[in-house]
Parts: sequence; C-alpha cells; structure tokens
Amino acid sequence: MVHTVGRGGIWEKVPRCFPTMPHDPDPPPAKKFKPGSVFFRLEKNKPGMLLPRKGNVTTPIDVQRKQLPIYQAKPRLLNELRRLHNAIVIGETGSGKTTQIPQYLFEAGIGRQGLIAITQPRRVAAISLAGRVAEEKRTQLGKLVGYTVRFEDVTSPETKLKFMTDGMLLREAIGDPLLLRYTVVILDEAHERTVHTDVLFGVVKTAQRRRRELNKIPLKVIVMSATMDVDLFSEYFNKSPVLYLEGRQHPIQIYYTKQPQSDYLQAALVSVFQIHQVVFDI
Ligand SMILES: Nc1ncnc2c1ncn2[C@@H]1O[C@H](COP(=O)(O)OP(=O)(O)OP(=O)(O)O)[C@@H](O)[C@H]1O
Ligand SMILES: [Mg+2]
Repeated sequence: MVHTVGRGGIWEKVPRCFPTMPHDPDPPPAKKFKPGSVFFRLEKNKPGMLLPRKGNVTTPIDVQRKQLPIYQAKPRLLNELRRLHNAIVIGETGSGKTTQIPQYLFEAGIGRQGLIAITQPRRVAAISLAGRVAEEKRTQLGKLVGYTVRFEDVTSPETKLKFMTDGMLLREAIGDPLLLRYTVVILDEAHERTVHTDVLFGVVKTAQRRRRELNKIPLKVIVMSATMDVDLFSEYFNKSPVLYLEGRQHPIQIYYTKQPQSDYLQAALVSVFQIHQVVFDI
C-alpha cells in the first residue's frame, strides 16, 4: 500500500520528537514508502519481530531494559506483587509493563512452581512480545519464553513465560477450569474489554477462589493497562490494590488534525511516515 500526502499533510504540526527538529510549521510531504524496506528488516527466525536495521542499533538490550521507567520501581513493585494475590498495574504506554513484569516475577522466583501466562487481545501482539522478551532473556523463542495463539504453539516443557491470546487461555480453561498449570495470570490490555477478556476475568476469578478452597497452589492475578477504569476492575477483583507506575519513556505531545479523519488507519500511517521523514531528513 502506498500513501502520499500533499504539502502540509493532515496535521496542524508534526510532533517534534527531538529538540533539534527544525521549526517548520508545515511538515514536508511524505515520500513513497515500500513496506518492509525502509528502516526495518524482518527477522525470519523470530516471527513478529521488527528490528531496526543494523547500524541504527546502539544501546545494548540490557541497558535498554534499565532505561525503561518501570526499572526504577522494580524493588517496590516486586515487594507488592510478591505479597498480593490480586493487583492492578497502571503505567504509561511503553513504560515496560508487558515486557518487564513477567521477567521480574520470574527472576525473583515468584510463581516458579508453574507458568506465568500473559494474555493479549491480539495474536500479533502475543507473538511480537514473546519474541522481544526471548531476545531480552537471550534465549531461543519457544524455550524459556514462548507463545500460543490459534494454530500456533511455540512453547516447550521448558517454557515459563507464556504469551497467549485471551482466546487461547479461555480454551485451556474449558479443559482445566482451575488453570492448574499456571501460578500467575497477567491479563494485559484489560481496558480493551473484548468478549474473550471479559469472560476470562470471570474464569480466572473463579479459578483463584476454587484453588484457595481446595488448598491448591494459589493463583496470582495481575490486571494491566495503560488506561482504564481502575475502580471497576479493582472492585471486581476483590478490591485489589492499584499500583501506579510513574514515568514515560518518551515525551508525548498531542496534536489535532485540521479536518476530521474518516479513515484512522490511513491517517495513522501517513503520520508515521511524515514523522520518520522529518526525523531522518534532519
Ligand atoms: N516487539 C518489540 N520489538 C522491539 N522492542 C520492543 C518490542 N516490544 C517492546 N519493545 C520495547 O520495550 C519497551 C517496553 O514495551 P512494553 O510493551 O513492555 O511497554 P508497556 O508498558 O506494556 O506499553 P503498552 O501500555 O503500550 O502496552 C518499548 O518501549 C520498546 O522500546
Ligand atoms: Mg503492554
């Protein structure tokens, strides 16, 4: 798909990501774009991974992990998550919730008796995040870190961190309503409220209660989102505490389009290309 925009583009201003960006009130027209060819390469052995082209990579992955806003909160977060059976975690997008919290739990030995499941509403997110976390743990995808989406199961007996779609965990719950393989279930992107997610909330809550009644290994349930009605979720999960993570990885400014946009996908694509063109032209 090729998108071009005329001079001026659709935005009032192009977001100024870097302080050195020239003060041009109108963004230049976006160049024609060949998908997959410009700034990124597809990693064949790691499905879903879009890695920056060689040459753009400067920061080692361990350092990248430590630069995430969540890293500052790690000791306090782990203290809380160790003792709580239910928790709601809220943090800015990109702060490191999805990629870091499962690793922190695993590294701290929390939930080691079973698997840590991290659910995603979309399969592409489950695949991509598993790839990223496997890379951060320097392990082959499908070993310590794996994923399960419909028609694809990249896990093994070694797998401890399992990214999966809501639908797949729901399917597993049909055969095992107590979810006994899992010691921690992280319900990510909870604000999206898909049918699967909503049903899953009920399933994990019941599994947690039944396991307590039957004296089985407890199930920890963590609900995560960048933005959601926390009171509603907290109330539902036995008045669970809400942990707020502070900090953003990048400065964020909001700009408004001159005209209403009927096609959000195209508008988003055009903006991405405009931003990249401005950033890489300077
Ligand atoms: N698939 C990926 N490939 C490369 N880098 C990634 C990938 N996924 C995440 N990252 C990096 O890890 C950082 C933290 O991402 P993470 O998904 O953990 O944030 P988050 O707090 O869950 O955000 P959100 O609320 O948007 O889900 C990102 O800012 C990005 O730098
Ligand atoms: Mg996330």
